[in-house]
Amino acid sequence: MSIPRLPRKKLKNLCTILLCSSSLVLMMTEVLAHPVLQPGKLISYTRNPNGVAIKTEHAQVELTVFSPGVIRVRMDKKNLGSDFSYAVTGQASKTDFQLTELDDKLILQTSALQLLIQKQTFSLRFETPDGVLINQDEPGLSNSWIGDEVSSYKTLQDGERFIGLGEKTGNLDRRGSAYTNWNTDAFRYTGETDPLYASIPFYIGIHHGMNYGIFFDNSYQTDFNFGASNRRFSSFSAQGGELNYYFIFQPRVADILRAYTDLTGRMPLPPLWSLGYQQNRWSYYPESEVMRIAQTLREKKIPADGITLDIHYMDGYRVFSWDKQAFPDPKAMTARLAKLGFKTTVIVDPGIKIDAGYATYTRGLQQDAFLRYADGTHYAGEVWPGWVVFPDFTRAATRSWWQAEVASYAKQGVAGIWNDMNEISTWGQKMPNNILFDYDGQLTTHKQGRNVYALEMARSSHEGMKQASGERPFILSRSGYAGLQRYAAIWTGDNTADEEHMLLGVRLLNSLGLSGMPFTGMDIGGFTGTPTAGLYARWMQIGAFTPYFRNHAASDSRSSEPWTYGEDVLNISRNYINLRYRLMPYLYSSFHQAASSGLPVMRSLAIDYTHDAQVYSRHYQNQYMFGDAFLIAPFTSNKEFGRLYLPEGEWYDLYSDKREPGKQAKTLELRLDRLPVYVKAGSIIPMQSQVQSTAEQPEDSLFIHVYNGTQSNSASYYEDDGHSYAYQNGDFYQRQMRFVPERREIQFEASQGKHASKFRKLEILLHGFNDVRSIAFNGKTIDLETLRLGFFGQEDRELNVSKFTIPNSAGKITLNY
Ligand code: GLC
Repeated sequence: MSIPRLPRKKLKNLCTILLCSSSLVLMMTEVLAHPVLQPGKLISYTRNPNGVAIKTEHAQVELTVFSPGVIRVRMDKKNLGSDFSYAVTGQASKTDFQLTELDDKLILQTSALQLLIQKQTFSLRFETPDGVLINQDEPGLSNSWIGDEVSSYKTLQDGERFIGLGEKTGNLDRRGSAYTNWNTDAFRYTGETDPLYASIPFYIGIHHGMNYGIFFDNSYQTDFNFGASNRRFSSFSAQGGELNYYFIFQPRVADILRAYTDLTGRMPLPPLWSLGYQQNRWSYYPESEVMRIAQTLREKKIPADGITLDIHYMDGYRVFSWDKQAFPDPKAMTARLAKLGFKTTVIVDPGIKIDAGYATYTRGLQQDAFLRYADGTHYAGEVWPGWVVFPDFTRAATRSWWQAEVASYAKQGVAGIWNDMNEISTWGQKMPNNILFDYDGQLTTHKQGRNVYALEMARSSHEGMKQASGERPFILSRSGYAGLQRYAAIWTGDNTADEEHMLLGVRLLNSLGLSGMPFTGMDIGGFTGTPTAGLYARWMQIGAFTPYFRNHAASDSRSSEPWTYGEDVLNISRNYINLRYRLMPYLYSSFHQAASSGLPVMRSLAIDYTHDAQVYSRHYQNQYMFGDAFLIAPFTSNKEFGRLYLPEGEWYDLYSDKREPGKQAKTLELRLDRLPVYVKAGSIIPMQSQVQSTAEQPEDSLFIHVYNGTQSNSASYYEDDGHSYAYQNGDFYQRQMRFVPERREIQFEASQGKHASKFRKLEILLHGFNDVRSIAFNGKTIDLETLRLGFFGQEDRELNVSKFTIPNSAGKITLNY
C-alpha cells in the first residue's frame, strides 16, 4: 500500500488533530477505568428473609443478618460468586430486623445494632441502636478495588486499639502496625517477622468503651493496616476474591469470641493426656533412646504424658513409614510406652517422596491426590525426603486417601499426629502461583489455596485418626487458617532460645487465644540456640501455664530434657510440672469452658479488662489469665526486679497468700524458683493429688481451693472419661460451685450428666478466711484443720489455710466468721 504524500502544513494539522484525539481517548479511558474503583451510587436493593441484596454502579453487595450482633458483608465488583468457605461452619439464625429507606440512606436495624447504608456514595456505618458510632467505612475511601485487590477502609477512631489477628508478632495493641497473612515457614523468626506460619484474618477493635470484631474470610493473601504509615484509616485487603467479612458487635470481648466461634467452630474436647507434659526433640531415635527418655522421666519423678517422634523415625523421611532398624516393631514400642503411661505422637509432613517403590506415593498417584501445574503435570518441591509431591487437601478424594493412610498410625498405637511444614514449606520458599488447587470443586490457584492448605490437612488427619481409633485424636499443626481450632492445636514453630523470644511467644499464644484458638503452645526452652539454665527454668515455669506444654529442641541444639541443666533447674521444672498435674481438674474444666464458649484457656488481660489502658502498656502486655483464676506475670529470667500490674479486684500471691488490692502497679523482687502467679479473689480452684501421668488414678479427694473475696463467684467443675466421645451422649460429670460472700456460703449444685466422678470426697481449703470460727455442711458442724503448707509442699508459718472434708455431693457450706 502506498501512502499519499501530503504538503508539510497539512501534515502538521493532521498530527495536531491526531494528538488531541488520542489524549481525549486517553482521558476517556481514565474515566472509564479509574485505577481505584469504588462501588459508586446505590442503584437498587431487595430485601430478603436474612438481609438485603444491593446493586451499586460498580458492585454487588449482600448484607446478611447472622444474629442481632453479627452482620455479614459480601461485596464484589463482578457478580457475587458461589458462597463457599473453609472457615465458616455456622449458619445465619433467623433474626428479626427492620429495613427503612430514607432519602439518602437505608437503615438496617437489629436489636443489637443499626447499619446505615449511604446511597450517594455507597458506604457502611455501624452504630449502636441509639446512634453511637461503632465502626464506619472511611467516607472518602470506603471500599475499593485496584485490579483484583479489594480493600475496605475504616475511619480510625480516637484512641482506637486493635487486638488479635492470630499468630502475629509485635505488641498486644496493634495500632500503628500492618500485617500480612500468607502462611510462611518463618524459621528462626524475630520479634518483627511477618508473616509467620498461620493466618487468622480476625481482629477486635476497641474504642470509647466499646469493642467489635471483624472477621475477613478470604483465603487469598490478606493485608491489615491498623493505622500504619497513616492517621486516617485502618484497612483490610485481599489479593483476590470477594470482600467478605463478618462484623461482630457484642458487649464484652468474651462475647465477641463466642460469636466468632459460633461462626468458625470451637475446639472439640481434646484427650486428657494431651494436657499433660510432652517431651520432644528432633529427634529421639532409635527406640532404645525413646525408652530411655520415658524411663528417665519416670525415675526422676517428672510427670509426663507424651513422647513425640520427629522426622528420624521414618524410613528416609517417607511419611507413614518407619525406619525398620531404629524402630523394628512400632506397635510393641507404643504399647511399652503406654504401659509407662505415655502416649506417642509422630510428625507427619505433607511432602510425599517421589519414589516408584513407595506405596503411599503410588496409592496417591492412583487417587490423583497430588497438586498439579496448570499444564497437568505434578508440582514437585524439595523438602526433607528430597523431591516430593504434595497432596491437594482441598480435594475431597485426597482427604479420604489421607485419612486411610493416617489410619496406619492408629493401628500402630500412635495417639497424636504432628502436622509440620504445612504452609506449604519447600526449600527455596517460593511456591509458584500457577499451581492448581481443587478448592472443593471450584478450581483455583495457589494464590487462593495456600492459606487453607494446612487447615484442610489438619482436618484430614483429625478425621482419619478419629475414624481409625474411635477416640478423640490429638492433632498438632504448625500452619492454619481461621477454624483450625475444630481440628488441631497449634504451636508457634521454630522459636529461639532467647529471653525476649520467650515473652514474644507468650504474646503469640495470647493473640491466638484472642483469635478462636484455645489449644496453643510454643517450643519450651527454645527450638534453636542454647538457653541459659535460668532461661530454661523460667520457660518451664511459664510452659506449665500454657495450654500445650511441650519441650522441644532442634537437632543441632544441646539436649534439653529437664534434668540436663543441673539439680536446681530440675527441681524448679519438677515443681511446676507437678503443680500442673495437681491442677489437672482445673485445667480440664478450663478446656471444657473453651470447648463450649470459645473463651481461651490462656487469656490476654485484654479479654477481661478490655478498657483498662494499663493492660496494653509495654510493661504489662505479656501478663495473662490462665483460666478464670490465675494471673501469670512472665518476666525474663535475667531480671532481679519486675513491674507487675494487678487489674481491678483483689489478688492473692499464690505462694504467700498475701492479699493485694487491684488497679495498682507494683515492683516485685523476682526469684528464679518462683514465677509470679496471682489468684483472683473469689476463685474456686479444683485440684487433685500428685500423679505422674493422666493415666494414673489420683486419690479419691478433689481439693477445692476457695479464695476469699467480696464478690460472688462461680466455677464449673467438669469431668469425663478423658478419651472417648461418650461425653457427647451425656456421659460426663459437671458441677456448679459458687462462693457467695454476702451469705458466707459455698454452694455445690447437684451434678449434671451420668458419669460418676472419680472423687468421692471434697477437701475444701480456705484461703484468706483468717477468722473462720466454725463451719457447717448442710447444717452440720464439721471439724477444721489449719494448714501451713505452700503449693510446693513447703512449710510456711505465715500461711493460714483452713481445711475440712465433705462428701462429693450437692450441698451448702456455711462459714461462721
Ligand atoms: C521444623 C519444625 C520443627 C521440627 C523440624 C524437623 O523445623 O518446625 O519443630 O523439629 O522441622 O522435623
